[in-house]
Amino acid sequence: MSVSLWKNCTLAPTAQPDELITQACIVVKDDQIQWLGPLDQLPVSYQTPHQTHDLQGRLVTPGLVDCHTHLVFGGHRAREFALRLAGASYTEIAQQGGGIVSTVNATRSLSEDALYHQALRRLHALMHEGVTAVEIKSGYGLDLESEAKALRVARRLAQNCPVTISTTFLGAHALPPEYTGRANEYIDLVCDVMMPQLAAEGLIDAVDVFCEHIAFNLAQSERVFKTAQSLGLPVKMHAEQLSNMGGSVLASKYQALSTDHLEFLDEAGILAMKQAGTVAVLLPGAFYFLRETQLPPIELLRRHQVPMAISTDSNPGTSPCTSLLLTMNMASTLFRLSVPEVLAGVTQHAARALGHPDVTGQLAIGHKADFVAWDIDDLAELVYWMGLERCALVVRHGAISVDRRSV
Ligand code: NIG
Ligand code: FE
Repeated sequence: MSVSLWKNCTLAPTAQPDELITQACIVVKDDQIQWLGPLDQLPVSYQTPHQTHDLQGRLVTPGLVDCHTHLVFGGHRAREFALRLAGASYTEIAQQGGGIVSTVNATRSLSEDALYHQALRRLHALMHEGVTAVEIKSGYGLDLESEAKALRVARRLAQNCPVTISTTFLGAHALPPEYTGRANEYIDLVCDVMMPQLAAEGLIDAVDVFCEHIAFNLAQSERVFKTAQSLGLPVKMHAEQLSNMGGSVLASKYQALSTDHLEFLDEAGILAMKQAGTVAVLLPGAFYFLRETQLPPIELLRRHQVPMAISTDSNPGTSPCTSLLLTMNMASTLFRLSVPEVLAGVTQHAARALGHPDVTGQLAIGHKADFVAWDIDDLAELVYWMGLERCALVVRHGAISVDRRSV
């Protein structure tokens, strides 16, 4: 047992600007928060810790949570980006065998080691900006062996890097080329072979499906959910990104942790999500990169108090973005979210979208000691700057994971 005292900071326990504690400190026992508050109220029992760290007056927030990424993939799609700049649409490129399928080919052909090293670089970029928990989806393998390879890479990243990683099986991301015209048969493979086997290997924390006219329909999505349910796995959905398919209503029926994208979400979907406690994950990086014009129904989500999370959607096709801080800026400028909404969106609501609301995403007694000390004097700076490095120190599970104090 080890007790450490992190003192001399301004604390934002919920990352909300109106809940700051000045002259504060945090007591960490092993990997958990044991106490936090003003230094002059520190209980006597914590006044002789094993270690003391001086945070030099910095502002401290919970570690950031990136709850929707596709970090493990091969290659890139810069050429496709150029085609889109010349006028081709995302849907047209997907229908011509480009898009997701081109990343599937690249991912299948890479060795597990090569895939690991490509993903590691992206993960480091997130970690250096204060991210302490990340979700990683499969979905660029689309056969048993390649999906297993991607999920093993995600588990290996978790073993080797001081960051919490939740894996999501997204076998139902796109139709692999060998199943063209046979979507139902591919869903049989996902449900009867891939999901049970990968779950038995302990590789899956949650199951996702891309419900869209260029991907899978409602009936196919429901099959995926039913199988996940029978295996005791929570579900989530890429829903209402390019059209309204009613995916959010379906996902809510299965108590989805989250539905994600949601540009075309309607009030029926919002009411279903509210009822189910499903988080709305907004992905402004994909909105920006695809130059979308249809905004998600932010005002309706607010009115119905559906929690909104913000995430990078880091992926090669629609959001080649490894900066959650830049994504936060986009959430405010493009989606008009307020600073408190953005900060809640990358902390407590994102943790809830991962199914861990009581573990991370807030600084509270009993939560993991995941926090970031920033070189800023106003929390709004986290949303305001575009690119300036402000992360000084990242602590994950009570230990320093990133130290940029001398940078
Ligand atoms: O989250 N929406 C589906 N999947 C990804 C896009 C993947 C790709 O184009 O490679 C997304 O936007
Ligand atoms: Fe995505």
